[in-house]
Amino acid sequence: MSQNINLTEPIMIGPRVLCLTAVVWFWAATTPFIYAQGKSASKPFDLIEWNGGKLIYGVDYYPEHWDESQWEKDAAMMQAAGFNFVRLAEFAWVKMEPAEGKFDFTWLDRALKVLNAHGIKAVLGTPTASPPAWLYAKYPDIAAMDERGIRYRYGSRRNYCLHSPNFISATRRIVTAMAEHYKEHPGALGWQIDNELGNPQCYDSYCLSAFQRWCRAKYTTLDTLNKSWGTIFWGHTYHAWSEIPLTWNTLFNTHNPSLALDHRRFNSEAMRDYLKLQVDILRRIAPKQAITHNDMGMYNGVDYYQLNEPLDFVAWDNYPMFGEDYAHYFGPGLAHDLMRGSKNNQNFMVMEQEGGLPGWSTFRGRQAAPGLYRAWAFQALAHGADGVCYFRWRTSRFGTEQYWQGILDQDSFPNARYQSVSQTGKEFAQLADLLKGSKVVSSVALLVSPDSRWGFEIQPLVKDFNYNRQLGLYYAAFRRAGVNVDVVFPQSDFSGYKTIVAPSLFIVDKTLVEKLTNFVKAGGTLVLSYRSGVKDENNIVTDQTLPGPLAALAGIAIHDFDPHTNQQQEVADLEGERHPARVWFDILDLTSGEGKSRALATYANGYYAGKPAVSIHTNGKGHVLYVGTEFLKPNFYSKLVSWLDGKLAEFGYGSTRIGKKLVAEPPPEGVEVAMREKGEKEIYFLINYTENAQTVSMGRSLRNALTGNTEPAKVEIPMFDVKILMVP
Ligand code: GAL
Repeated sequence: MSQNINLTEPIMIGPRVLCLTAVVWFWAATTPFIYAQGKSASKPFDLIEWNGGKLIYGVDYYPEHWDESQWEKDAAMMQAAGFNFVRLAEFAWVKMEPAEGKFDFTWLDRALKVLNAHGIKAVLGTPTASPPAWLYAKYPDIAAMDERGIRYRYGSRRNYCLHSPNFISATRRIVTAMAEHYKEHPGALGWQIDNELGNPQCYDSYCLSAFQRWCRAKYTTLDTLNKSWGTIFWGHTYHAWSEIPLTWNTLFNTHNPSLALDHRRFNSEAMRDYLKLQVDILRRIAPKQAITHNDMGMYNGVDYYQLNEPLDFVAWDNYPMFGEDYAHYFGPGLAHDLMRGSKNNQNFMVMEQEGGLPGWSTFRGRQAAPGLYRAWAFQALAHGADGVCYFRWRTSRFGTEQYWQGILDQDSFPNARYQSVSQTGKEFAQLADLLKGSKVVSSVALLVSPDSRWGFEIQPLVKDFNYNRQLGLYYAAFRRAGVNVDVVFPQSDFSGYKTIVAPSLFIVDKTLVEKLTNFVKAGGTLVLSYRSGVKDENNIVTDQTLPGPLAALAGIAIHDFDPHTNQQQEVADLEGERHPARVWFDILDLTSGEGKSRALATYANGYYAGKPAVSIHTNGKGHVLYVGTEFLKPNFYSKLVSWLDGKLAEFGYGSTRIGKKLVAEPPPEGVEVAMREKGEKEIYFLINYTENAQTVSMGRSLRNALTGNTEPAKVEIPMFDVKILMVP
């Protein structure tokens, strides 16, 4: 389940945790289904090739939930809708291993046979997210322990300990048996590992010892650890590795922030190691099959750049209506782009695309118009997906997810959602050749720093601080201007971008500062925002003048700041417009820093009225903007984009560029424009998420890829509809 972004409210992490739970693997095809392990960066994995030349289009299917007499009817209905793909078995451990070491794949073989006969191939889920009751009964220590030292009881799912030797050996057994059984199966394209890796964090003695070993491997000596964590504070100095705690329950629930950051890194790496354990088994036994995992978009429990490294391609679970208004397409858009960025912009797929109203004990959100199920599938393609698989084929009659709608309801009636996805199925079939080999290319990137996100989770500044909201504010402003945006991570290649926006880059190390400096000196524009450069990689505050190691680059000094509580603050920009500001006010000093920087906006109220809030500094061939606050309304961010897009030069502040704009005029609210490129060919996706027809000014007439007709320069898009246009 993804966490999409509401641009005005903080994101709720709780429900996600509660209820839902590069370096690249390359295609080395001489024949369509041979994949080779390797780290050469020559050829990214081609999902369309993998799926026999078709865009992946499918559903998550649970044959074990239905009487076998239903399977044939289901497969026929799937085929009629244009589905060529299913994900199977990711919660069926007990059915495949009903007793320890006794395996039964006959039912899955039969299901695959029925589906394959209808042209539908499968990804098989390794079922480790839901271990059988007999496994818990026999090995109670496989259950995770919460921070109070209480083991979770059997029930729910994902409540396992990643360091329990019994769980690891059970994992090896089931994954090995599945791989042996399906390694040559022509209808099994590959594997999804586990399901939505991320929680829980386990606090048992296995995890405690593993964390202590992790610390020892990282710091080598206790002296180094004590200095790196500043453990002299409150006298928390450790004299033995075995004294090091986890972030378990303490009075006031507080921990050394350096320890807390390392604990988050440790947990993220533990997920990656667990995934890698399964990857290694599958690679060894079933080298012809591809491997993925279903990530969770904006979810922050794991560093996706690291997690996705051993996989062939990224897949993720996208639920746009989870607390969202459907016209806010930016949330899913950003999540798609982040997912693509987590594997160096390689094309990806959606493994669970919302197929109906979500809900567990209550329904969540409101019913989406049927056309949106089609719009979301095209949105995924627009952002670089080569496949979409809906969750789920049919709503369950039993269990926790009776309210979580699939495409069909329990009665299997071919409802409006089915009609909508059937139309999409025909269109996907038409577009495969055009899209094969095409990708998203952007000149603007947003830098996501997992360390900074974690740092803010540990010490969130003020109640109203929200890292993802800031990402969303900048992201949406570029998209409103009709500009493609990539997401980069600290390890990504920054060259090739004209602008990088790094909101609240709280935690930086030397390597990142050097990379950003080189990017700017070579002519790039870097936008930083408040509370950047505050901490080092140990989550310890710098002793340099803020923004610390970024001060020289930004050409400013910050000697004073003001957290927002109930004071009214406004910022007046260089064009005289006032913008209400929130969260945090960094008061910029342009005179005591490196110098040469200039104010683009100043605070309007309080004792620091007239002092700079936003600055620009020319550095080498490039520029650094520092935005010392956050704005309540999108207006400032749109203005910033227009400044970067040539206006700053007009005002005499140096030349900044944002690169290609996809439209002649910004699209109307609720309409998204995005583009994929294939050599000289440009493929535009115009998606109308509103209940009214909308017009987009493309500035030239373009050919409609679905109808073959030429569309006028002002393209009309009916409500909830999609147009795919191309040049030439
Ligand atoms: C996802 C999960 C699915 C299903 C869905 C609806 O997070 O991967 O297995 O549970 O949510 O709750």
